[in-house]
Order: sequence, then structure tokens, then C-alpha cells
Amino acid sequence: MSRLIVISNRVSAPRPNDPKGAQGGLSVALAAALREYRGIWFGWSGNKTDEFTGHIDFQRHEGVTSATIDLEEQDVEEYYNGYANRTLWPLFHYRIDLAEYDRSFAGGYERVNTRFAETVRPLIEADDLIWVHDYHLIPLGAQLRERGLKNRMGFFLHIPWPPSRLMVSLPFHEGLALSLLAYDVIGFHTEEWLESFQNYVERELGGHCDSDGTIRVGERSVHAAAYPIGIDYQEFQQAVASNTARTAYERLRKSADGRRTIIGVDRLDYSKGLEERFLGYRRFLEENEDCRGRVFLLQIAPPSRGEVHTYETIRESLDELSGRINGEFAEVDWVPIRYVNQGYAREDLAGFYRAAEIALITPLRDGMNLVAKEYVAAQDPEDPGVLILSRFAGAALQLKDALLVNPYSKEDISDAIRRALEMPKEERIRRWRAMNENVNSEDVVWWRKSFVDALEKAGPSRSEAAE
Ligand code: G6P
Repeated sequence: MSRLIVISNRVSAPRPNDPKGAQGGLSVALAAALREYRGIWFGWSGNKTDEFTGHIDFQRHEGVTSATIDLEEQDVEEYYNGYANRTLWPLFHYRIDLAEYDRSFAGGYERVNTRFAETVRPLIEADDLIWVHDYHLIPLGAQLRERGLKNRMGFFLHIPWPPSRLMVSLPFHEGLALSLLAYDVIGFHTEEWLESFQNYVERELGGHCDSDGTIRVGERSVHAAAYPIGIDYQEFQQAVASNTARTAYERLRKSADGRRTIIGVDRLDYSKGLEERFLGYRRFLEENEDCRGRVFLLQIAPPSRGEVHTYETIRESLDELSGRINGEFAEVDWVPIRYVNQGYAREDLAGFYRAAEIALITPLRDGMNLVAKEYVAAQDPEDPGVLILSRFAGAALQLKDALLVNPYSKEDISDAIRRALEMPKEERIRRWRAMNENVNSEDVVWWRKSFVDALEKAGPSRSEAAE
């Protein structure tokens, strides 16, 4: 059996001192695959070093081997804070107004991808399956091919692929897109991102896309398809049933004191539509005087990417906006928004989700959004809550029974909150059942099996083919 080599910017393989429940679903699922395939998870340690030496730090825990490297300050600035988070992230989330194009970022991105390729290359054996993740490492496959690697290689994009008319605003976009053709399988979360990619290939690269998912550009042909990621449903059920979750549930219910809870949980990022959400909720308070004092919005938003200016700005505006709304509507015994800038362990979140009657998840653009799926999985089947979900989240294509809203529209958000508060139990149960069925069956194990199956079927590795 082939080994599986997972390569991503961040490595979240289990570590010896992780508190229980601290690992995300993706990490749990990939760790399970890595155990099964005796694989390695390779990536950046998150640490900086004065001089890059290519030293690899190996760790083995719970049957999973992780291999990490440190990067230089300049690497982190140009590759991670720069090209990945100031250029690609905003562009791929349709925010060309925020995208910065700086030649040094592109240079740093290539350099770090080269460093990844050179360091991981000696760890790879002829038969290994290689699975590269996300926008930080698009050119890695091509870099590995240049170093003689003939293995089957797959790439999965965890964020949207933008429409061609936006993609062309990236200097040297053809080079970046062409480098994807070095892989054998390219995966996206939804048909929508896949279609944007196919459209780009035909318009900008003069390629052809067959209905079976084959993409041909010149001599190269690759398989591209949608593989929507899911949560680890079984594992999440255990989290919901844990004592920690029960305590978290009690804590929120007690403090809600009979009021209804609307919950949002998002990394603090402009793509999550938090300002628009607060404004939509404000509109709801304005229009529904009878509901004031009877509901509150619990928004959990741990800060991220703090070294990038746009993230500082969004943080400041949210501080200001939440303060303004609270000042405007609060009473001595009621605050409309509880805005919390810290992260919680999965088991705590599981308890909070179950305690909340409504989830308000309204990203302006999101590759998938697993919080929506976790909210569904955490509900009491006899008395489930209502999911309000942005139609621009990848998850909306699977969770069609959520109340789908346009996150840019204050009226839409306000109306959906009112409707959710008034929704009869039978309707809540009917909608929840349909969503839960999907979250349970198309879970993360299904996702990674579908992708790895496609990779295994991608034909013999090029080394075998050459023999
Ligand atoms: C998104 C990306 C991931 C990334 C995560 C957290 O989900 O698709 O690749 O790891 O955000 O962002 P960070 O910059 O903190 O790794």
C-alpha cells in the first residue's frame, strides 16, 4: 500500500500536549488517513529561524509523523503575510480592492515553495501519494516535478477559485494557474469554484474541459472535480456528549437567563461578513422593538493574521461597531451583542452550539464553512435550532434547508432572524433532518476517501508509467 504524504502550510497533526478537543476536524480526519497509510504530514512549524537550514523537526504522536521546518523572518513576511494573505486570500475571496501586488511577495512565495520542495523531496519514496493543500503551496507540485518526482500528486484548494475576470488582475496569473497542471488531481469544495477554474482554463489558457472532469492544456491532462469537505461527524457527536460540552451548554443557558441566543463563530476575517452581520442584527433590533431584551448575539471571533494591516483594520471597525450598537440599544440588564475575541476548544463550542437557538453564519464569500455543519451536528434532534446561512458560503450548496440569506442585505438578515425566532418546531425539525442527513453522510471521512480514491485512480505514478 502506498504511503500518503500530506503537505500544507500549517501542520496540525496531534501533538503530545494538546488539550483534549483542541484539534480541528480536518486535522483529526487527515491524522486518521495518515495512520492508515503510514504517512507523513509536512509543513511550516509556525516558528521563525535566523537562517533557513532545511532542518526538519520530526515528531511522532498517536501514530502520526509530522515533519516541520522553520522559516526566516523574510520568508514569513513575503510568503505568508505577503503573497498568501495579502495577495491570494483577498483576490480568491473576490476582494480585488484589498489585494496587494508586490513583486517581493511573489518572489518570497516562489522561494518558500522551492524551500518546501527541496526539503520534502528526500522524504518521498517512489510509491508515495502526495496530497498538497491550499493556496500557500500552489506551485509546489511543479517544483517537485522539476526535481524529478513522478509520483501521483493531488492538490486541494480550501478557498474559492475566483471568476476569471477577477483572476486576470493578478500579475503573472497564467504562470500560477499553469503550475497547477503539474498535479494529477485538483480538488475544489464546490461546483461553483470548479466552474470558475474550468472557465479560466478555457478562456486564458486555451485548454479544454471534458464532461468527465478531464482538463487538457497542450500535452497535459489532469482531473479536476468538486469534493466538498465535511466535519468528522462521529467525533463531533462525542464532543457534543462530553462533560466539557455539557458544562459549556449550562454556562451559556444560565447566562442567557431565558433569552434566545444567536451564535456566530468565525476567525476574525473580512471575508466572514462580520460588519454586515452586526449591521443586519442592528436592523433587526431597530425593526423589532418587541424582541429587544429577549435575544442576544454571541459573536465569537478569535483574531487572526494580526501582522496584516487589513486584519488590524477590521478588528478596529468591529470593536467600534459592536460598541456603538451596544451603546445604542443596551439596558441596565441586557447587552445586545456579546463580542468575544478569544477561541474556544471544540468541546466548548459544541456545547455553545447546542445551547444557541439560532446560528448566524453570513460570510461574504467562503470556500466551505464548517461552523455551519458543526452547528447542525450539535443540535438536539427533538428541538433543533435554526441555521441562517449566507448563500455565498460553499456549504450553502449542501445545506439547502438552512435559511439562506444575502449577507450584504441588512433587510435579509433582519427578516431571517425574525423568521427563525418564529419558526414552528415541526419546520425546524424538518429542515434540520435534511441538513443533518447531509452533514452525517458527506462527512470528512467521505471527503478524504473520495479525494484519495481519485488520486489512486489517476493512473500509475509517472515512474511506473516510465518503466
Ligand atoms: C483558512 C485556510 C487555511 C488556514 C486557515 C487559518 O481556512 O483555508 O489554509 O490555515 O484559514 O488561517 P491561518 O492563516 O491562521 O493559517
